[in-house]
Amino acid sequence: MATTRPKGTNDLLPEETAKWQYIENILRQICGEYGFREIRTPLFEHTELFLRGVGDTTDIVNKEMYTFEDKGGRSLTLRPEATASTVRAYIEHKLEAQPQPVKLFYLGPMFRYERPQKGRFRQFHQFGVEAFGSADPVMDAEIIGLAMDFYERIGLTGLEVRLNSVGCPRCRKTHKAALQKHLEAVLPSLCKDCRERYEKNPLRLFDCKNPECQALLADAPTILDALCDDCRAHFGQVRDYLDAAEISYYIDPKLVRGLDYYTETAFEILVSEIGAKSAICGGGRYNGLVKELGGHETPGVGFALGMERIFSALETQGKTLPAAGAADIYLVALDEASRHLLFPLLLAWRKAGLAAELDQMGRSMKAQMKQANRLGVRYVLICGEEERQKQKLILRDMADASQREIALDGIVQAVVSLLQK
Ligand code: HAM
Repeated sequence: MATTRPKGTNDLLPEETAKWQYIENILRQICGEYGFREIRTPLFEHTELFLRGVGDTTDIVNKEMYTFEDKGGRSLTLRPEATASTVRAYIEHKLEAQPQPVKLFYLGPMFRYERPQKGRFRQFHQFGVEAFGSADPVMDAEIIGLAMDFYERIGLTGLEVRLNSVGCPRCRKTHKAALQKHLEAVLPSLCKDCRERYEKNPLRLFDCKNPECQALLADAPTILDALCDDCRAHFGQVRDYLDAAEISYYIDPKLVRGLDYYTETAFEILVSEIGAKSAICGGGRYNGLVKELGGHETPGVGFALGMERIFSALETQGKTLPAAGAADIYLVALDEASRHLLFPLLLAWRKAGLAAELDQMGRSMKAQMKQANRLGVRYVLICGEEERQKQKLILRDMADASQREIALDGIVQAVVSLLQK
């Protein structure tokens, strides 16, 4: 039996890669406009980076990492996300010595051992931005604006920005005490994971998918109630900037996100899928992460959006992306000698920047014309014995099926000019 791809991974065939390239080009264009520059980090890192960066009470670290030992006995992990990697690179390459903010973006595969289902894969792709060095709420608003600008440009609709502030360690302490007090009596009824969260990181109780736990949390104190003055002011300003930019959002005091590094702003962007809403983007501020990973105290804010989820949302909404570029010309050879004559011309046209094709299957003339049609070319050039003798090829305009002769002498430039018209 032939080997198939591993569960939860995808092959992208040329029709799909054309769509991906279209989206990637828009993302790169937007990053240029917003001043984010690309960073590429390794696909695997020392396991310790994610334990410290993402957090040891998260599902990602506890259940979903692809961790292995290499031949040198080091524990390595395929990156489940790229914020920790970007922070590591920021520290390692002393980017803090550069003018701040340092605004970076990345695009590439991430790996999580999750149960595959619609929109959820084990190898998936994220586009993400991370901005370091500015604690200003305008930066939070800028990145949310960038994500929404992107979705608008590709025509996605029905999006909802969910916004919260998860505060700083000071607010977290107050909230932790209030939440633990509130839940003390019902502790035995919480699920096993939640009982652990209760001790280690009660804020993440809100992230539990178990309906019984959620019911017990229904009127639990939220972090928004516990924000300190600074965090409250920061959150207010993020909202003011979003209001000024007419980006609508919905405040969700129970939004906590599945990663431990967030401080203050946390957000997700949801899109309506049939019968449900799924997160196509998530992010927030992480003012403690650079220090936690060994750098100086440096604020940071960023997000990542799922590439696969863009395509599934576009499909659900019945939106099509522009088709891949068609070939420009197709050369039809009626015999071997004609093929010899056409081959150098084929190369000359390609050098001149045209997408040109010549039959490589020994097809009949009829089959070659059919292939030209399939490729969607504008012009077909036909050469047989008669054309070789006359030193003229037949030029067929596929737009109106008209045909005329065109002299071999100067033909390369003549066809290039025709296509430029
Ligand atoms: P995240 O919420 O874990 O955040 O992932 C961000 C996005 O990646 C999700 O909203 C979703 O669209 C996509 N995604 C996540 N898991 C999968 C999966 N298994 N299959 C397909 N798509 C998936 C982060 O990763 C943070 N690093 C975001 C961030 C950057 N925060 C600050 N900076």
